Order: sequence, then structure tokens, then C-alpha cells
Amino acid sequence: MSESIKGLVRSHMCTDITEALIDEKVTVMGWIQKRRDLGGVIFIDLRDRTGLLQIVIDQSTIGAEIFKKAERLRSEFVIALDGLVELRSDETINTNLKTGTIEVRAEHLRILSEAETPPFMIEENSLVKEDLRLKYRYLDLRRPDMQRNMILRSNVSKAYRDFLAGEGFVELETPMLTKSTPEGARDYLVPSRVHPGSFYALPQSPQIFKQLLMLSGFDKYYQIVKCFRDEDLRADRQPEFTQEDIEMSFVNEDDVIDVNERLLKHVFKETMNYDIPLPIKRITYDEAMNQYGSDKPDTRFDVKIVDLSDIVKTCGFKVFTAAVTSGGSVRAINAKGCGTYPRRQIDALGELAVTFGAKGMAWIAINEDGTYKSAITKFLTEDVVEAMVKRLDGKPGDLLLFSADKNEIVFNTLGNLRLEIGRREGLMDDSRFEFISVTDFPLYEYSAEQKRYVSMHHPFTMPNLDDLQYLESDPKRVRSEAYDIVLNGNEIGGGSIRIHQRDVQERMFKGLGFSDEEAYERFGFLLDAFKYGVPPHGGLAFGLDRVVMLMTQSKSIRDVIAFPKIKDASCPMTEAPGAVDEKQLKELSLSIDKINLD
Ligand code: AMO
Ligand code: AMP
Repeated sequence: MSESIKGLVRSHMCTDITEALIDEKVTVMGWIQKRRDLGGVIFIDLRDRTGLLQIVIDQSTIGAEIFKKAERLRSEFVIALDGLVELRSDETINTNLKTGTIEVRAEHLRILSEAETPPFMIEENSLVKEDLRLKYRYLDLRRPDMQRNMILRSNVSKAYRDFLAGEGFVELETPMLTKSTPEGARDYLVPSRVHPGSFYALPQSPQIFKQLLMLSGFDKYYQIVKCFRDEDLRADRQPEFTQEDIEMSFVNEDDVIDVNERLLKHVFKETMNYDIPLPIKRITYDEAMNQYGSDKPDTRFDVKIVDLSDIVKTCGFKVFTAAVTSGGSVRAINAKGCGTYPRRQIDALGELAVTFGAKGMAWIAINEDGTYKSAITKFLTEDVVEAMVKRLDGKPGDLLLFSADKNEIVFNTLGNLRLEIGRREGLMDDSRFEFISVTDFPLYEYSAEQKRYVSMHHPFTMPNLDDLQYLESDPKRVRSEAYDIVLNGNEIGGGSIRIHQRDVQERMFKGLGFSDEEAYERFGFLLDAFKYGVPPHGGLAFGLDRVVMLMTQSKSIRDVIAFPKIKDASCPMTEAPGAVDEKQLKELSLSIDKINLD
């Protein structure tokens, strides 16, 4: 039987009660974390969002009737009580708790809601399987670590809003039921009842709308906004996720990056008291690939990729020479101090290399006496080996790992091997935050699957003006005014200066393989808008979920989202997506193709 809250007013949250309130009467409410029955005295750990508070229910002072009620209390019951704040006796002081020196001696008690035994304990750092946690997410969210994550997330959003409002940005909303915004993923579609056979697309981002808001003269826009992308999920990807989105008029790349650096600094300072030294280091896309084999380099550790192609191009070892003469390269990393890895561990790295597309992984271990252990030195002259070791700064105890192939594969292989070495050697400290901005991304990348060029960022990104002349003749070499912000090897934000000229936008669509008609059908409203006076503009979006994931050192983005989806894009709690009834389908003029089911 539950009782009413009527007439009761909560005076304090659990951990707001301190020694300053000794002998004062307080009214507290919350969940029962634990009940200990010492016969005649019951101790309760009461929990609310702020933490735990010890309650004493003493039969000798509280009276038989209330004590009887207290004997019914179980974990997760919701109660309200009042009583006097007291100092704990010395033997019950708990220095791990904020309220560890005090307790509340209950005078009245109400049971506001009873609870069945939950499917798992509500406790910090639970080892419970994630599917069970997600099925009972509302209980999982009661756990202190999840509460902390969610509250940090809220603080990050607040700090973001405060900063941008202070800089004169206007918060504006853009539609969820809209037309496709191409960001490279599949759309989630919503059928229209009123227009049978027609569909809205949920936005992959507010990209086009925020550009139109610049055209409308709002000058600086921001929004915290849900985006939807139907793509394969990973630890850092969800089908619906939240962007902190920004757009600014009359700016160049430096202006946008500057605002975003100061924004990040403000958010990390306000929410974590962490100082980001500004300016954040910048590196071009080409430099990032050459040095780290990745456009989102993890710069917490210094292992860099080194090009050896010129040294080995005529060395006689076919694996190396063939890679160079066919337009690829031979590159290597120096895994400092890993020369003592046993053979089986080096072979495991070789097997890993193969999973990244490599045909093999050559290696040289430098023994303590300066001699080499390697399967390839026998194919090479001493001069070549010495030149390679010198360029790699190889010292006794080091392990040199080589990849020879097309550049794309070499970068992917060594980029990932470098991360693996970083992990194995404990070089990636998650409590450190290393930011880096990557600039000068290529405008296009070739999609073998679609047999055409696709945008590396999105189709509204401005080509570098020096390269614009090659847009049609040599699209691969065109750089763009796009940039990413990377934190500890994760892309946390991306943006660009936009095309604001109708003719350049039309050329861009053509380059992406759209005919004039197709481009007009999909983006006619944008091309039309460009007739009416467009300020040069640019912006950027942060992935809020990813930022908070890194701030909290969570292994998965799911740990910072209240109600996330699992790998197959379903929700174990609501069991969405689900079937709908015939009547709804009929209203939408839809029928299900049963052949594709099962
Ligand atoms: P972009 O596609 O780079 O740019 O997205 C911006 C940031 O959003 C985050 N993000 C995701 N987070 C979780 N799950 C996903 N599936 C997911 N996809 C992206 C990333 C990424 O850096 N309109 C442009 C921005 C602009 O040009 O202003 C855009 O959406 O952290
Ligand atoms: P092989 O002559 O094919 O036995 O190769 C000799 C050594 O070169 C072995 O250690 C292979 O793992 C290594 N190797 C083979 N292909 C490559 C490659 N594409 N890049 C780097 N090393 C390779």
C-alpha cells in the first residue's frame, strides 16, 4: 500500500544535509539503497540524485506503529520521512560518503511506492550484461555512474548554450520532417498519409536549413539537435544522435575554428575544470595521413609513420620495389622498446595487419647488442637496412614494422598498427585530452561501390579556390575548406566553409554525378535561394554524444545516451521498431512485402 505525498515538502536533497544542520528537522525523499535491521533499530541508506544519506529508525523513539511500517521496507521502495539531523557515533562514520559523519533520526515515515526486487542491483560500475541493463534502462539510469554521465551531458549542453548565447548566436529550430539532407548515410523515411506514396526524410543534419538561415540574415545560428542516419552502428555511432550545430555568416575558416576552439575551452573548463591550451594544433589532411595514417589521429603518443620509398625503391627486395614502382610506397613505424616482443606477438601483429588489407608485415627487431632479428634483412644490403634504421631513429630494443602497398593500404595498416602499439604499451591515457584540428580535406573521394565521386564532407562544402580550376579535370586533387576536430583519435566535430555561389554549387552537383534535373529536383529550393543574395558562410557541428563519451571515459556512446539503440538499431526496452496494424498501413497506402521478411 502506498501513501500520499500530500502535506509533505522536501526540505533537502540527501547530500545537502551537512553537520551545519545538526539538531535541525529535515524532510527527505528518495529510494532505499539498503536496509539493515539490527533488531529494534533499522538503518536505511536513502538515495536520491545527489547520493546517499543514512537514516536511523529507532523503535524506542519512533513508536510501534511506524516501526512496523519500517520493517516492511525493502530496496528500491520510495519513501519520505522527516527527523532530526544528528552526528553519527564514531564507529559508524563512513569517510567514503559525503554525508558520512551525520544521519537523520526519523520521526515520521511514509511509503510513497513499493518496489519489487529489481532484476539487478542498483550500484556503481555494475557488471550486469548490457542487454539486461538496456531492457530495464529506467533502473540502469538510477545507478550513480549513469546519473553522473547524464548530468555531465546536461552541463555540457548548458555550457554550450551559455557560451554561444553570450557570443550573440541565435538558437533556432529546423524541421524533423523534411527532405533528404545528404551526409553520406541512408535516410530514415516517414510515409505521408496526406500524400500517398510520398515520404519525408528525417534529417541527417540541419545542414541545408542552417545555410538558408544565413541567407535569411540571422548571422549566427546554433541548435542542439537530433540527427538521424541509417548506417551500421559502432561503439561511437547511433542511428539517432545529437549534434551541437553552428553556422556563421561573413566568416572564413579561421573565424569558425577560432569560435569553436573557444567554445570547447569554455565547455571543458565549466564542466570538468579542464584547461584546453589554445590555439589547438592544426594539421592538414595530407600531413595527418602521412604521419598517422588516419584523418583522425590520436596524438596522445608520438609514434609516427615514416616514408622509406626512396631508400628501398631499387633495393632488390621484390615486395618493397614492386610497391614503389607501381605507385604505392613503403613506410614504417618504430615501436619504441618493443624489440623484445616474442615472435608469437610479432606474428600476431602481422595477422592484425592482414585484417587491415595488408598482404604482409615485414619487421626488424633491434637487439640490445645492435644486431637485428628479422626475416627481411637477408633480402637487403647492409646500406639499405642502415639507412632505414637511421631514418626511423631505430635504437637497441626497438621494433620496426613495415608496410609496402598502395598508399591507402599502407596508411590503413600502419595507422592501425600504431594504435595497437599504443594500446599494448599503455600510451593512450584516457584521462588526458589531446585535441587536433585537421584541415584541407580533399573535396571528393572515389566510391568504388557507387562508381562515382562522393563528397568527403558534404556537397555544400567550398572547394579550395586555388584548386577550383581542377574541379572537372582532376577532381581528386581538389582540396576543400573543410575541417574536423579530433579528440584522442575520435572525430568529435566537423565543418566547412560553404559554397555560396549558385554556379559553383551546380558544378559541385555535376561532379557528384547529378544531372541538372536531378540536382534541381533534390536541391532546387537551395539553388533558387542562391539567386537572392547569399552571405559567405560556414559552420561546424559537434557530436555531443561522442564528446561526453570521451569526457566520461566511457567505452561506448550508449553509456551517455539515456535510451540508446543496440547494434541492430533496435531498442530492447520498447522493442522498437515494431509492426503496425493493417489499418495504419492502409491509411498510409503502404503494404508490406512479406517476401523480404524472416
Ligand atoms: P558530420 O557528418 O561530420 O557533419 O557530423 C558532425 C559530428 O557528428 C557526430 N556524428 C555522430 N555521432 C554519433 N553517431 C553518429 N552516427 C554520428 N554521425 C556523426 C560526429 C561528427 O563529427 N552538417 C555537417 C556539419 C557541418 O558541416 O557544419 C555534419 O553533419 O562527432
Ligand atoms: P615473402 O617474400 O612474401 O615471404 O615476404 C617476406 C616478408 O615480407 C614477410 O615477413 C612478409 O610478412 C613481408 N611482407 C609481405 N608482403 C608485405 C607487404 N605488402 N608489406 C610489408 N611486408 C610484407
